Amino acid sequence: MKAEINDIHMGFEIIGGTGLPIVLLHGFGLNRSIWKALAENYLSEHTVILPDLRGHGESQATRGAYTMDVLAEDLSALLDFLNYDKAVICGHSMGGYVALAFAEKFPNRLSGLGLITTHAAADTEAIQKDRYQMVEAVREKGAVVLAESLAPKLTKDENVRCQSHRILAGTDPDGIIGALMGMAERPTRMDLLPEIDVPALVVAGKEDQIIDVEIARQMADSLPKGRFLLIDNAGHMPMIEAPKALGEGLSWLLSKV
Ligand code: MLT
Repeated sequence: MKAEINDIHMGFEIIGGTGLPIVLLHGFGLNRSIWKALAENYLSEHTVILPDLRGHGESQATRGAYTMDVLAEDLSALLDFLNYDKAVICGHSMGGYVALAFAEKFPNRLSGLGLITTHAAADTEAIQKDRYQMVEAVREKGAVVLAESLAPKLTKDENVRCQSHRILAGTDPDGIIGALMGMAERPTRMDLLPEIDVPALVVAGKEDQIIDVEIARQMADSLPKGRFLLIDNAGHMPMIEAPKALGEGLSWLLSKV
């Protein structure tokens, strides 16, 4: 399905269709397809909204930086389009940065928060530098450069790696560049965590090569209604590597809302 919101066409789909609305936001360079099996197998009694973030999947790629605020505004406009006042918002990695921006900008629309293999800090200077180098590399050689560099870090599972590589390599270069520039500019949202007074789940993968488990644990401690879930046999992609464990975690979150 497509919605015309915030001057873009936004691709999305809804699985289930009754029960509490829950939004699952994919990470950088990926798209909504990463959630499908988990949503169908473990969350189908709810209304699972799977958007493609701006510049990803079937959503239109605009030029320029995609700040996390703009991506959160896209999400708020999608909820308006679907006639939902509130939803449980869950984000994977960059999707988590968007979920936190949404929590800050639209606290009254948030009924629960899921932070999945993500964190609340801003980029260090070194990471920003890497991002701007990647912007140049993608401008020159296309999305495949990102796929080659990121896919091996996402998971040790060969099939999940191939699937992720395929998605990353197929993402619009303008979308990748917009997201890289937006992530580089994002502020820290560590101070926001103690103010998020809704049920929250922080998920870490024990084998994650990108997000430190202890940082995730500290985020859960900072959230007034936070619970920490460590998934043993998962890296950065628990929705595909360990869908049952993540599905149970998200069902717990929904039961608390
Ligand atoms: C992601 O998976 O969304 C990215 O690893 C996030 C990032 O680059 O900070």
